Amino acid sequence: AWKTHYLDWEIKNATLTRDCHTVSVATVNGMFPGPIVEINEGDTLVIKVTNKQIYPVTMHWHGIRQFHTNYADGPAHITQCPIQTGGSYIYEFTVDSQRGTFFYHAHIDWLRATVHGALIVHPLKKLPSTYGKVEQEIPVIIGEWFGMPANQYEAGFLNTLEPLENATSITPTINGYPGPKYNCSKGAQVFKVEKKKTYLLRIINAALNNDYWFSVADHKLTVVGADGNYLKPFTTKYLPLLPGQTTDVLVTTNQKPGKYYFGINVGPIPIVGRPPPRIPALAMFEYEEASSSASPVTPKFPNNVTLKPLNQYVAKLHAFGDSVITLPKKLNKDLIWTIGTAWVDCKKPEPCVQKVMGMIQNISFDDPVGTSILQAYASGANGVYQTNFPDEAPSLKVNLTGTDPHYRNGTRGTRVKTLNFGDNVRIVFQNVFAAGILDHPVHLHGHDFYVIGRGYGIYNSAKDPKSFNLVDPPAYNTFGVPNGGWLAIQFIANNPGVWLLHCHFDRHKSWGMEMVFITKNGHGSAQSLAPPLHPLPKCTAGGLP
Ligand code: C2O
Ligand code: CU
Repeated sequence: AWKTHYLDWEIKNATLTRDCHTVSVATVNGMFPGPIVEINEGDTLVIKVTNKQIYPVTMHWHGIRQFHTNYADGPAHITQCPIQTGGSYIYEFTVDSQRGTFFYHAHIDWLRATVHGALIVHPLKKLPSTYGKVEQEIPVIIGEWFGMPANQYEAGFLNTLEPLENATSITPTINGYPGPKYNCSKGAQVFKVEKKKTYLLRIINAALNNDYWFSVADHKLTVVGADGNYLKPFTTKYLPLLPGQTTDVLVTTNQKPGKYYFGINVGPIPIVGRPPPRIPALAMFEYEEASSSASPVTPKFPNNVTLKPLNQYVAKLHAFGDSVITLPKKLNKDLIWTIGTAWVDCKKPEPCVQKVMGMIQNISFDDPVGTSILQAYASGANGVYQTNFPDEAPSLKVNLTGTDPHYRNGTRGTRVKTLNFGDNVRIVFQNVFAAGILDHPVHLHGHDFYVIGRGYGIYNSAKDPKSFNLVDPPAYNTFGVPNGGWLAIQFIANNPGVWLLHCHFDRHKSWGMEMVFITKNGHGSAQSLAPPLHPLPKCTAGGLP
């Protein structure tokens, strides 16, 4: 039988020490990462979120479709106004026809740095037989420690043009701890394992601004799923995760009983000017049978000099089991959109200078002020957003050097793209830069999309579609648009409402690398936007009460 889980969360400050920095940061119930939420497919969550710290907050359930519960999705000023200090909001939604590894995180400013946690949905049917007998499931949450409240860091960052890569105060963490290679750490977090057993690692990249390689010393990883969808199993020594991606991995304890570190290191996109690989964040698997004096083995990570390990990994991604779908042949929207950064004038009033901004179709998205797009849409309020998100890119003859005149100057606006219910939508994202910028992890709210193609250079609409995978494309909610290349995705707009699409690097998102879809209602209430289940936080202007 399905269950309803009632949770009471306080977003409040906790004083924590990591990497020798003691800071008071926002957390869920005082924990970093927040509590693990574990439910079964079909269950309902009713989570009352009360804001007990100074920054306005909202909560997002990353990867959960929110069919008929658009008001529980959570991005600030997109589906709701933020919960102010002292206020609360109840997020209620049912997780239907989805299972796997998800997470929740604050969806405003950079609060998600410390306000996040695992959301695990156990399948209705049991795990596919390819999972074998799983002895234990272990959530592995990748995070970052800023050495100061992340919102303060953000404010400083947005006021300068300094690339974040130059910042020294960011420490990677595994389940909240950087581990033994960092100062002021009390050794590694230890997970006891038995020999000749299989463990399911549910790995979540909740970090704000870095992609990571994950690896376990001396053990092979069998990848079986990602973003809540099954993948055709394959083995690898290490796997890449962009912020917003999750991966399910099996590890069999078939090595000599001992102590084996596992963890993350910065990767896999080689960046011009990036400092040498940082120090990995590590935790440890310790075989029950290991002798206490055994010295731990450290994992290896690929060096970030070529894209080969990343491309080899991506080539192995195929949907599996009930994650394989047949995509309809007829496209209702066939779009080619550019993504990258450009210079735009900062917001008035003066004085202001030109700033680097994040762009999709050369437009930097401005959140509406004092209301949300969803509330404006549902109430028919005028003037909050425009529906003229451009279909044509300024130019697709991008030179990929970052000096293309078409992409030197962008504009800003609150422009949305309207879809009809049931539209079969294909988007090719063309990255307008070659060097010096990371892959952009594009994340779509309210849907999974299918990754049908990916390549380097300028997308060729005559040639490249011939190589698209329309047979078993892997389903994701977050996937990288390659540095100096393109990514082709497809999805069905079968979720009426307002859905954000954005780069899951927070620094790019706060630069405006985001846009919004509004999917119109179809027929009858089953295909229509449903009203909010609980009173929404107060907006300061317009919108619903
Ligand atoms: Cu995980 Cu809109 O985000
Ligand atoms: Cu980006």
